[in-house]
Amino acid sequence: MVLYQIYPRSFADSDDDGVGDLQGIIDRIDHLDTLGVDGVWLSPIMRSPGVDHGYDVSDPRDVDPLFGDVSTLRRLLDTLHSRRMVLIMDLVPNHTSSQHPWLEAALASGPGSTERARYFFRDGRGPDGSLPPNNWPSVFGGPAWTRVTEADGTPGQWYLHLFAPEQPDLDSSNPEVVEDLDRTLRFWLDLGVDGFRIDVAHGLAKPEDLADLPADVEIAQLVVDVRDARWDRPGVHEVHRRIRRVLDAYPGTATFGEVWIGPVDRFARYLRPDELHFAFHFALTGAPFEADAIRSAIDSTLDAARASGSAPTWALSNHDVVREVTRYGNGAVGTARARAMLLAILALPGIAFIYNGAELGLPSDFSIPHDRLTDPTWDRTDHAELGRDHCRVPLPWSGDRPPYGFSGADDTWLPMPDTWSDLTVEAQSADPESTLSLYRRAIRIRHSWPTPTTPEVRWTSTPDGCLGFLREDGPVLCMINTSRRSVPLPDGTVVLSSAPLDGGLLPPDTAVWLQR
Ligand code: NOJ
Repeated sequence: MVLYQIYPRSFADSDDDGVGDLQGIIDRIDHLDTLGVDGVWLSPIMRSPGVDHGYDVSDPRDVDPLFGDVSTLRRLLDTLHSRRMVLIMDLVPNHTSSQHPWLEAALASGPGSTERARYFFRDGRGPDGSLPPNNWPSVFGGPAWTRVTEADGTPGQWYLHLFAPEQPDLDSSNPEVVEDLDRTLRFWLDLGVDGFRIDVAHGLAKPEDLADLPADVEIAQLVVDVRDARWDRPGVHEVHRRIRRVLDAYPGTATFGEVWIGPVDRFARYLRPDELHFAFHFALTGAPFEADAIRSAIDSTLDAARASGSAPTWALSNHDVVREVTRYGNGAVGTARARAMLLAILALPGIAFIYNGAELGLPSDFSIPHDRLTDPTWDRTDHAELGRDHCRVPLPWSGDRPPYGFSGADDTWLPMPDTWSDLTVEAQSADPESTLSLYRRAIRIRHSWPTPTTPEVRWTSTPDGCLGFLREDGPVLCMINTSRRSVPLPDGTVVLSSAPLDGGLLPPDTAVWLQR
């Protein structure tokens, strides 16, 4: 299965406000069809003030007017289903928006109220409570606590937010919170969605004591130190079992958890038969373009699949990380390597995710003027970190200058570089050697293979700096050359290569599929 992640603000804008929307996706459905993907994972489109672009939800059972309404979503669903594609919605159960009526009620009610018990409100430390209740940092920088002003105007309690202050964490041990989650799941399932990508799936429960983190715990932005008690608490599994019970009543639906957990045994726990169906494994998003690093990322993903019995998942990028073209070196080299890595993930067993724009070989754009940055990380880190806007710039569709057919507006929510005219869908569709053409061809070929029944791959012996592997059912041998010199091709008929081959040689930064 190949799923395509749409970041809705950035895909296509139908109403010329400079921001992508659901009708834009419907209008561009042929792009998905031609690409040959099996479905779409849609980043959040629920009602949201948009501080974290939809990951701050103020009404989980409505569509934000920025993107359309519930009937537009229904039309998108029908359109996708009529083309045999599924729709996976993003679900944000860890936190709400600070503009959710629950937080507003919590602020209006005092300490100890049932309204506050849906979140984590605690007294501060120090004689006047002016210090946060513990030392937890927020993922976006600064402390994970914000102090509120009580109704009488005095400084009051603090509430927990692992992300921005506008994203207060919910307490999933509160029955009201999880009952509401059930309602949200059913609302979208009844509408016909095929499943959910579950945001922060490893963070949905907090330790009861909310104790300080050890001073030497490694605070990674995304991959988590197992001693970091903000994540992977035992109670999280009860939430996943509950979600699963709801989904089991809707046959054919599935969950995909965002689980940033390294150790295989802990990762696998999320995939027990009564929990998540699938979980994202992010090893490849952190691996440099080096044979050993790629192999160990693939092995760790396969180990997790073996340990859990769930299909492995592969992603080179998403809306939170630097795009692969840039990670691998930018320019022609970065593009060549990203193309090679596409052949790698498509030759592996399991589910491959493509982040919108990867099929165009878009780079991350680090030239966005600072006064146009929108990611909360930028302000929360006092401008030490640029945040993730670089990988969310709108997609170029046609024409030779911004906004490249993305929108009828002159300006787009993030400015588009004026160097992308060769990267548009229009330009690349006309070029059989383009990255888009490679994606289309590779996905089509992959679809002609049987679905693998096991997550096994067999590594073959290769020259230094190269990797070679076959799925267990072995439709092709995939060989990748990460070294600086051309190497001889193994025996076999070339099915596809990520760049022209050099006679019988596989050039650097290139991958090939060979039939044996
Ligand atoms: C993970 C999402 O992928 C990211 O974009 C978001 O900012 C955080 N969760 C908080 O919801």
